[in-house]
Amino acid sequence: MLQKIKETAEFLQGKVTSRPKIAIILGTGLGDLVSHIENKIEIPYTEIPNFPVSTVEGHSGKLIFGQLGGKEIMAMQGRFHYYEGYDMKEVTFPVRVMKAFGIETLFLSNASGGMNPSFEVGDLMLITDHINCFPEHPLHGKNYDELGPRFPDMSEPYARDLIQLAIEIGKENNVKLQKGVYVGTSGPTFETPAEYRRFYLMGGDAVGMSTVPEVIVAKHGGMRVFGISVITDLGVVGRIENVSHEEVQKAAAAAQPHMTFIMKEVIKRSN
Ligand code: HPA
Repeated sequence: MLQKIKETAEFLQGKVTSRPKIAIILGTGLGDLVSHIENKIEIPYTEIPNFPVSTVEGHSGKLIFGQLGGKEIMAMQGRFHYYEGYDMKEVTFPVRVMKAFGIETLFLSNASGGMNPSFEVGDLMLITDHINCFPEHPLHGKNYDELGPRFPDMSEPYARDLIQLAIEIGKENNVKLQKGVYVGTSGPTFETPAEYRRFYLMGGDAVGMSTVPEVIVAKHGGMRVFGISVITDLGVVGRIENVSHEEVQKAAAAAQPHMTFIMKEVIKRSN
């Protein structure tokens, strides 16, 4: 594994001269941030050694280098989901490569079902914490001390200073932002009403099928993390309706301008 990570990071370092310290993982229907990236260099996943290949509709699968908000960045358009059949080492491989490349802060977005009764479809939720409900842990098995500690601290999974910065940006610009705990689960089924209730009673505000594995591996490697979730449907008792992938994408697309704005501003003003 160490050899593969090194090989892939070196391949990318040979492809681009920039050395960004910021990486962004763009989730479902949120790829529009890409159009704000300047001087883009795009590398399809299919050309990157050791990279898994994305399969789901709406995820085009490439790594993009360029500038956003005046900063050098690396963006992943299309991520690897556990429900697609990848194991956790594959799902999180790009984050290992990012760390080896020199990335220090990881920004990510996702779509989720809101369980907090104060949430509405289309809300953006700053992720303040998460609960890992995946059946497999990305750090299961042998620990490589070169990558991080055997028992990583998770007391601040999402950087408090970046959350505070996003709150200020939201206030200054009249963008409504919720805050909450993201529950990560394997999918691919959306939740039954009883499952939404369970995740809410457990302490979750929103539930989705990604992010948690990548964040665990980023924290293992000592990276800083900031995440926003777009609430695309509601798992609130009494207000649960049918959910489909199309509806999730539609709601995510509608929230896209605000999501793009907040992400870009946080990146611009972060240090
Ligand atoms: N549950 C799980 N994942 C999701 C949901 C949901 O309701 N909405 C978008 N992704």
